[in-house]
Order: sequence, then C-alpha cells, then structure tokens
Amino acid sequence: MNNQIKKLAIVGASGHGKVVADLAEVLGYKVCFYDDAYPTKTQLEHWDIVGTFNDLLACKLENVEVIVAIGNNVVRKQKCNELKQFGFDLARLIHPSATVSQYAKVAEGTVVLAGAVINAFAEISSGCIINTSSIIEHDTKVGEYSHICPNTALAGAVSVGECCWIGVGSQVIQLISIDDNTLVGAGSVVVKNLPADVTAFGSPAVVVKCCK
Ligand SMILES: CC(C)(COP(=O)(O)OP(=O)(O)OC[C@H]1O[C@@H](n2cnc3c(N)ncnc32)[C@H](O)[C@@H]1OP(=O)(O)O)[C@@H](O)C(=O)NCCC(=O)NCCS
Repeated sequence: MNNQIKKLAIVGASGHGKVVADLAEVLGYKVCFYDDAYPTKTQLEHWDIVGTFNDLLACKLENVEVIVAIGNNVVRKQKCNELKQFGFDLARLIHPSATVSQYAKVAEGTVVLAGAVINAFAEISSGCIINTSSIIEHDTKVGEYSHICPNTALAGAVSVGECCWIGVGSQVIQLISIDDNTLVGAGSVVVKNLPADVTAFGSPAVVVKCCK
C-alpha cells in the first residue's frame, strides 16, 4: 500500500487559490502556496506561502504536483507553460461532487469545482477552470486556459477557444462557437457565434468591444 502523502504546490495565493486549496485537501493533498507577494505575505488564511514563482521553478521538488490557481487566463497559461518547460507535473483536480462522464476528457492543469457536470464526449483542455455548478454538455470542447465561470451552461457541441472567459451565469446554446480570447459578460445568453478577441454580453449577447 502506498501511504505517501500527496503534496501540491499552488501558484497564486488569491481567492481562487483558497478554493483550489480547499478542493486539494478534500482530495487528500497537503498544500502550500507560491506567490510573488512572498516574503511580504507569508500566509493565506491558515496556509503557508513558502516562496515566489521563481523559487518554485528553482527547486527540484520530489513527488510534488503543481497547479496554477490564477484567474487571469493569459497569466495562468504563461505560468503553466513555464512549469511544463521546467519538468513539473501539473495536477488535475476534480471535486468529488462534480459529475464527469466516463466518456469525457479533462486534461492536466485543469480544476473542476464543486457541483460541475461534464457530460459525455465533452473535452476540457489543459489549464482550464470549470467553476462551481457549471454545466458542460455532450460533445462540447473547451480550449486551453479558458475559464467557465460559476453556474454557466454550455449546451451540446459548443466550441470554446483558448483563453476565453465565459462570465458567471451565462448560457450558450448548442453548436455555438466562441473563438480564442473572447470574454462573455455575466448573465449572457449566447445564440450566435462569437469571433476571437472580443467582449460580448447581454441576452442575446452582442459584441461590445474588440480587444485587438
Ligand atoms: C462584461 C464585463 C467584463 C464588462 O466590464 P467593464 O468593461 O468594466 O464594463 P462596465 O462595468 O464599465 O459596464 C459598461 C456598461 O456595460 C453594462 N454591462 C456590463 N456588464 C454587463 C453584462 N454582463 N450584461 C449586461 N450589461 C453589462 C453596464 O451596465 C454598463 O452599462 P451603462 O454604460 O449603460 O452604464 C463585466 O461587466 C462582466 O460581466 N464580467 C464578468 C464577471 C464574472 O463573470 N465574474 C465571475 C468570476 S468567477
């Protein structure tokens, strides 16, 4: 029997970091944080912040998995890529109350939070946040480093690109495509495809800003 304690280094001592630490403990990990606010800040609630991101890169941690708990998609992507280059293993954390189909795929570096549902043949790429009580329906694909915010529903066969942010409580109807780096505002209903690099919101969602 393997009695070794699972250890997790969490990058980013933020509000989302607290949620990830809580989840990690539920999954049996002993956690510590790395954050660039160190050494000014050494605690997040009762958890220790033990170094900066560069301190983490510099140490050869044996038997330690890493997760990046930074809400900003672009920064999360950058940190995950650096960690991979340095040979770190990214964890994949799925809350026990989440329902993930046996036919769904969830890549490493992704967190699936409490009450989320990921249905058959959905595919969640690396470094995503599938937040509390969100629903990812059958055949839907979520690209790397995207954040599906709490209580959001993506209907069947939706395609979400890389680094997208689908705001809290949004709904996306079936077969819709949302291209890379697009932000959907809170409470939106997306009924038409959205291009890359825009902000859209409302019901129905319309593009309000181009970010390039
Ligand atoms: C879309 C969003 C990014 C826009 O932020 P912003 O650029 O700072 O925009 P502002 O707050 O200045 O609002 C600009 C206008 O858009 C409206 N607006 C902003 N977000 C809206 C939304 N989601 N739905 C409808 N209208 C919205 C505001 O009421 C305001 O209208 P007004 O000019 O008539 O007063 C932001 O409002 C949003 O929805 N963020 C998502 C938050 C979220 O999901 N967080 C979850 C974290 S886990």
